[in-house]
Amino acid sequence: MINQENNSGRVASYVAPLLYKIHNEDCRTTLAKLPDRSVDVVFTSPPYNRERNDKYEHYDDRINNYYEFLKTVIGECLRVAKRNVFVNIMANYYNRADVYKIIGVYSENLTNIFIWEKSNPLPAQGNNITNAYEFILAFGELRANTTYIKNHLTTSVALMEKEHKAVMHEDVANYFISNFTNNDDIVYDPFCGLGTTCMVADRLGRAWFGSEIVEEYCSVALRKIGNDLFTKAST
Ligand SMILES: C[S@@+](CC[C@H](N)C(=O)[O-])C[C@H]1O[C@@H](n2cnc3c(N)ncnc32)[C@H](O)[C@@H]1O
Repeated sequence: MINQENNSGRVASYVAPLLYKIHNEDCRTTLAKLPDRSVDVVFTSPPYNRERNDKYEHYDDRINNYYEFLKTVIGECLRVAKRNVFVNIMANYYNRADVYKIIGVYSENLTNIFIWEKSNPLPAQGNNITNAYEFILAFGELRANTTYIKNHLTTSVALMEKEHKAVMHEDVANYFISNFTNNDDIVYDPFCGLGTTCMVADRLGRAWFGSEIVEEYCSVALRKIGNDLFTKAST
């Protein structure tokens, strides 16, 4: 559970060298190196674990024990976050038993479930139900920066690049980072993908870093975030 102690100088100096970088490694390796309460907010979307692996060119979207994997990563995120952890996840035909089990096992830590509705989702085949929303599981006490912030948001979904079709919509990242973090807060994304969280955090003046296991995706993300990244990383 997110604990309420104050940050220490040790934590700040430990995390400083990690900032403004995407670490090309398994996020469990990055997380293991992070002290307790060393980032302000985690915002992330883990792989869906779709057995037919139709979302990525470079990543194999099949994990033997998806439930244990998610449970471990979320547990670690709760340990390293001072304030909130947001986990964007879609329950689908392949993973729904594990996703619902995760909601159950973390029921005491969950403070809200936001619904991200897609206005133009890809239609399901035949009479199957079209999947038109995703969850954002929210952990930690929630205090928005403005009033009338709903736990429901709607965006369109655009056609995705062939090499990575599971990219987060920028408006969704913007909704959470602008409403639940402040200037200079540290935002961490353990499943960085093409870098949407980091890019939006950078634009909003937050400190950030991420982990991504696929080298090709790290390179695309770095290009997307832009040159100011290299300036910041080297100072
Ligand atoms: C749903 S995508 C994240 C998309 C990201 N939010 C974006 O906007 O591009 C999940 C990403 O997690 C990466 N990934 C999978 N397992 C990982 C692990 N153990 N550690 C770090 N990254 C991992 C995949 O390569 C994939 O790019």
